[in-house]
Amino acid sequence: MPATKAEPLDRDCSRLIHSLHNRSAHQGGHVWVRGDGAVLTDADGKEYLDGLSGLWNVVLGHGRRELAEAAARQMNELAYCSGYAGSSNLRAIELAERLTAIMYPSITRFFFTSGGAEATEASIKTARYYWKMQGAPEKTKVISRQWGYHGTTLAAMSATGMSNYWPMFEPRVPGFVHIPSPYPYRYEAPRDVNQSGVSQGVAAANELERAILREGPETVAMFLAEPVQGGGGVIVPQDDYFPRIREICDQYKVLFVADEVITGFGRTGSMFALDHWGVQPDIVQFAKGITSGYFPLGGIGIRDEIAQVLDTGKSVWMHAYTYSGHPVGCAVALRTIEILQRERMADQAKEKGERLLKNLRREFANHPQVGDIRGKGLMCAVEFVQDKSTKQEFPAQEAIGARVHAEAQRRGLFTRLRGDVFLLAPPFVTSDQQLDRMVEILREATQAVFGS
Ligand SMILES: Cc1ncc(COP(=O)(O)O)c(C=O)c1O
Repeated sequence: MPATKAEPLDRDCSRLIHSLHNRSAHQGGHVWVRGDGAVLTDADGKEYLDGLSGLWNVVLGHGRRELAEAAARQMNELAYCSGYAGSSNLRAIELAERLTAIMYPSITRFFFTSGGAEATEASIKTARYYWKMQGAPEKTKVISRQWGYHGTTLAAMSATGMSNYWPMFEPRVPGFVHIPSPYPYRYEAPRDVNQSGVSQGVAAANELERAILREGPETVAMFLAEPVQGGGGVIVPQDDYFPRIREICDQYKVLFVADEVITGFGRTGSMFALDHWGVQPDIVQFAKGITSGYFPLGGIGIRDEIAQVLDTGKSVWMHAYTYSGHPVGCAVALRTIEILQRERMADQAKEKGERLLKNLRREFANHPQVGDIRGKGLMCAVEFVQDKSTKQEFPAQEAIGARVHAEAQRRGLFTRLRGDVFLLAPPFVTSDQQLDRMVEILREATQAVFGS
């Protein structure tokens, strides 16, 4: 093992291109060498609490032998076979059956991918295929939301509503439209729209109706939304937002696609997040937590009615991935789901999330630079602002979030940010003591940056 992290980091910088490649970030980065529960160890031997479960995905924590054993057993038995038409494998069949049992009753058929962006691509293409087969070939547009994150392949990037992902890769795919996020801390209905007597959540949902009418309902294929926006800053919608979204989608014949890549598999305190609001989607996208990050696997689940169209459509659904239904990924997913259920992980995420949020509120509610503290289950965020009364953000060059994160890292907490929004979504196995330590570290880091 190398004596310090400097040496592997030098090698990294000479040879690797990273996701969101930014050389300066990597020069001061970490080379992780070990993981155990909620703790990661870097090449210097220093331990860090994993504040974001890897990348929201390692829900069961690091070092779970059962998952490694499930993968090894499957690799020995059948490491790979194609999932193209005419070819299948037992683990993929079992996983599709298992998902049918635990997902929304509306969702009955499954296609597997290697991750979240591929799931986004699959749902967009499925929606377009569906409408073409229904005799509505003009219905191709995708409406999604500001602060939405759906991946970075070209169509997924075009659906992603964080505009800093776009400029260097323009032009985006045509036919993608964004509406405001329901963002309870910041959303205000436009002045020219009469929303009197309408709640903030319904007003935000009505943005979808306005966009559909503006574009023409006959041109809109689907609405894509994360039940709780994750990478965009843990934005938890109002309770009446998604019920109104469902009504609008039904009224204008627009498919409602839930991107549960982060929120699926227990993260928000229920197995799938739209259950909080009693709403069922037409298509679900999933990835990350389904294998606890131990194998790259994602997918989409679709309504029976859409599946019927795929089964009987006169043109083949020409969509495919070499690794769709990978038997090793499916074996790991089956074991992950078994553990999630056996250890009541969604309940744990709910209880631990409540503890984390309560502690964050106790520590920061009166802090002059903390504008909002929010969360659902085990995904929380603290939003720093320059002026609490106006919600004015800090100038970007002050890099407040980055400075708080640097101080937190120095004290042994590693996570991610969205600007000056500090994100926390640790593994479900994080102990109460570790959760409390995360809040303590954030308090110390905040003191180091603001002096109070
Ligand atoms: C909600 C959501 N959708 C899609 C994706 C893209 O997933 P992937 O990075 O596996 O392509 C992510 C990744 O963070 C995500 O959070």
